[in-house]
Amino acid sequence: MSKKMQPIAVFDSGVGGISVLKELIKILPKEDYIYYGDSKNAPYGMKDKEKVRKLTIDAAGYLFAQGAKGLVVACNTATSAGVRVLREMYPDIPIVGIEPAVKPASRFKPGGRILVMATPMTIREEKFRKLMAKYQAEAQILPLPCPGLMDFVERGDLHSNDFRKYLEELLYEYRIHPVDAVVLGCTHYPFAKEMIQEIIGKDVVIFDGGEGTAREMKRRLLEADLLNPSEEKGEVVFQNSLKDEKKINLCEQLLHL
Ligand code: DGL
Repeated sequence: MSKKMQPIAVFDSGVGGISVLKELIKILPKEDYIYYGDSKNAPYGMKDKEKVRKLTIDAAGYLFAQGAKGLVVACNTATSAGVRVLREMYPDIPIVGIEPAVKPASRFKPGGRILVMATPMTIREEKFRKLMAKYQAEAQILPLPCPGLMDFVERGDLHSNDFRKYLEELLYEYRIHPVDAVVLGCTHYPFAKEMIQEIIGKDVVIFDGGEGTAREMKRRLLEADLLNPSEEKGEVVFQNSLKDEKKINLCEQLLHL
């Protein structure tokens, strides 16, 4: 089979990367996708960098062994721990990572207060420190580690009172001292966008990095002449390290939300 017809792999620590997969399907509908979530080892955001790097390398190896022509690391945490080493290991394969959308948020509101919600690991990492330093002159960037947020999404628990209470407590400070924009710096968080918007206020603009990441993958495939020439809509295959039918069903549901 020609390389162009091979699927694009999309990887996350769990079901969160489906928020990026949706954007990919919007701009690259003719492609086939393998979506792999490592829910068995999630949450990545509570682990140390070396552990997450190893899990990311293992996942990439598993996906390339299935013939993937490119890889989207649809996880901010795995990207900060492992994307650089993956690019060194596979220099000829398009590999795209995701990072918190601090750039568009700072540009949208120069001098504004920008809240960046992400996992504890993403916020601790050098990659984020550098990103923050780069845009700090343009806006006031407020990092907020959100331990536990991804677990609600991983359970498919998106509308419960417990979830609302968790978010109200997490965002309490920023309801008293409002922000201009929120960056969802973890791919699980777009599934909580509605509730975050309700709590933080309807005038606050919410950004995430999914669309930019999808556009970057399209650009990289075009450059490598790897776009699928098919005229038909592509297919998505879901895989998860938990080998649990319920997880795959949740993936399908989230994709169609
Ligand atoms: N979805 C991942 C991200 O974008 C993190 C979730 C986790 O902690 O595993 O950072």
